[in-house]
Amino acid sequence: MFSRIIGTGSYLPEKKLTNHDFAKFVDTSHDWIVERSGIESRRVAPKDEYASDLGLRAAQNALCNSGIAAGDIELIIVATTTPDMIFPSTACILQSKLGIKDCIAFDVQAVCSGFVYALNIADLFIKSGQVQNALIIGAEVYSRILDYSDRSTCVLFGDGAGAAVLMKSDVPGLIASKLHADGTHKDKLSVPGWLAAGKIIGKPYVQMDGPAVFKFAVKAFEEVTQEVLKAANKKVIDIDWLIPHQANTRIMNATVKRLGLPLEKLVSTVHHHGNTSAASIPLAMDEFVKNGNIKKGDSLLLVGVGGGFTWGGIFINF
Ligand code: ACO
Repeated sequence: MFSRIIGTGSYLPEKKLTNHDFAKFVDTSHDWIVERSGIESRRVAPKDEYASDLGLRAAQNALCNSGIAAGDIELIIVATTTPDMIFPSTACILQSKLGIKDCIAFDVQAVCSGFVYALNIADLFIKSGQVQNALIIGAEVYSRILDYSDRSTCVLFGDGAGAAVLMKSDVPGLIASKLHADGTHKDKLSVPGWLAAGKIIGKPYVQMDGPAVFKFAVKAFEEVTQEVLKAANKKVIDIDWLIPHQANTRIMNATVKRLGLPLEKLVSTVHHHGNTSAASIPLAMDEFVKNGNIKKGDSLLLVGVGGGFTWGGIFINF
């Protein structure tokens, strides 16, 4: 038994923040941000919209494209770094918003690799026969954990959500996957804050060692792509679309160059939504499905790298 993606969806909040907007309140410029990251604008959710709200819109979109009714979903996994609250899980909140009374629902926290982790877990649930289908969502409101006076981080991230519906299949869909984590890098990219006795302890904002993250990400993207290709018995030439976590254009372009993959096979959408962490891969995938570039039967390679560090990849027959 295999699992296959039968529908994708995405959602971006309406409010757009351009690089020029940032230049009004931090010491930066449109040219600096574009040159270093490729990002031109990102979206920001209103204060009363949470990860579950963004995730809901993406999920409804994916369900509609898959032809499955919400009530028939047997497993919901939400990949998020910015949950609605400490508990219940964003997956349970989203489940209630979808009007589903009973299914398995839980969150996965693997930061920017979250969607790849969640897809891999859902695939195993389906292969084991425990469920017949799954709704996988990456949803983030990074605007809640950004220090808008820190120019080195605030310009890079945005809010958004993406989703995919997986269904059991006789034909292979998710062909091979590899996941990794190395917590010795925990201080290089983190939100070092938490709640205790009703007070915020530490600094609940994104902090990172940019150059260290850059170096690690490029190496990890290349290595895990090769590892997944080997497991799938495929070669770089077999990839129709490489869909990396949309962190920044320089990281993605460097990865493609190291792999020897033509730039036309890279799915890159970061310029108009910034780094949306766990939401970025399904967002990018859905955009390329909707614009007709990704077609049924195409070979996709999804790769993520995120805080932890975590990293992983999946080879998919779409
Ligand atoms: N505008 C203008 N100047 C800036 C800005 C900004 N927004 N941010 C930093 N600078 C300045 C720095 O203060 C520094 O100034 P100084 O030389 O006077 O000290 C200078 O630019 C160079 O800073 P560096 O950090 O060395 O710049 P670098 O070329 O490494 O680019 C960047 C920074 C874009 C963060 C890069 O390191 C990078 O892309 N790292 C990867 C980070 C990333 O993508 N993280 C996302 C999360 S991780 C993930 O999703 C995998």
